[in-house]
Amino acid sequence: MEAIFRRLAKRLHDNHSSTLGIANTMRLAGAYNGVRFRRQVKMRRELYQTQLSALVEENGPLTCPPIEMKDGCALDTSMRLPYLDRVLEDSEKIIAERGGKRTTSTGAYRSYFQDVWTPADLEKYPSFLDFATSSDVLYPVSRCLGFIPTLSTTTPNGIRFVESNAEFDDRPGKPHDSQLHHIDFYTVPSVYVLVLLRDTVHENGPWTYLPRAASQKAAAELKYWSRKRPFRLSDELVYSVVDPKQIIEFCHPRGAVLFIESSACFHYGSRNSVKPRFQLMLAYTGVRRTDFSELFMEQNVFPMRETDSRLRKMLLNKNIDRADWLVQKK
Ligand SMILES: [Fe+2]
Repeated sequence: MEAIFRRLAKRLHDNHSSTLGIANTMRLAGAYNGVRFRRQVKMRRELYQTQLSALVEENGPLTCPPIEMKDGCALDTSMRLPYLDRVLEDSEKIIAERGGKRTTSTGAYRSYFQDVWTPADLEKYPSFLDFATSSDVLYPVSRCLGFIPTLSTTTPNGIRFVESNAEFDDRPGKPHDSQLHHIDFYTVPSVYVLVLLRDTVHENGPWTYLPRAASQKAAAELKYWSRKRPFRLSDELVYSVVDPKQIIEFCHPRGAVLFIESSACFHYGSRNSVKPRFQLMLAYTGVRRTDFSELFMEQNVFPMRETDSRLRKMLLNKNIDRADWLVQKK
């Protein structure tokens, strides 16, 4: 019975949820996961509404003026976010070891884009999780989402260290897959925190986006996510309802950080990366996913310590609930 259920979930998930259409699949999955994780959903919303300041203090006070996301995004080029210098330092070691070596197979989905992060890096390079769980990063993300988030454990992976490289692209010259405009629907709402690990210019194939209000207007006009509508949209289609001048390329020196509501803003990236692009991608989501991926995909596990703050624990473990705090208090 369980195997049938798993197969059905995968079928509904495949080809960007084309069987029922994205919006219908999201409603169904959201209802299912909402029941499954009702305690955790309620707890994370209540803690956000009543204890966010206390949780942030316990996790470590803000070290910079609070970042505020507006119109679905915020850019920080201050280079002052905690642990960022160590992230950049460690990134150089990873790039030296793994950069420029193709790991995707020929003909693979998104051959131009590879995630070189390994689970062992979580322990080897603690700077990444320290940055991802710092109050300066979690505060604006929580404020945008309206609840205490968790790191995504299936798709997309909560932590990705990605290289985009035109040399790996099996279909160069014609944008395809995530090189085309789309809005992420796997878990809505969700926020990406993107960190440029090397200086990035147009030739690196930057992550490129349309702010929230303009994206939502375009999505409504194009009936995006409706059944039989494609998930990936061409420039021609998007620019039939959007002024291309509104599109923003995430081109900045190394260390720039973009907070972006990827589940509300149209985006694409990795187009013709003739200069390889190296980027850290952190995916913050709710525990109530809007897909069925947890039913058939193996879930990432993030290392957690007994001494971690409640905020950090909630980020690293989506299953945590009130009973865990009560046990600790004894
Ligand atoms: Fe995306």
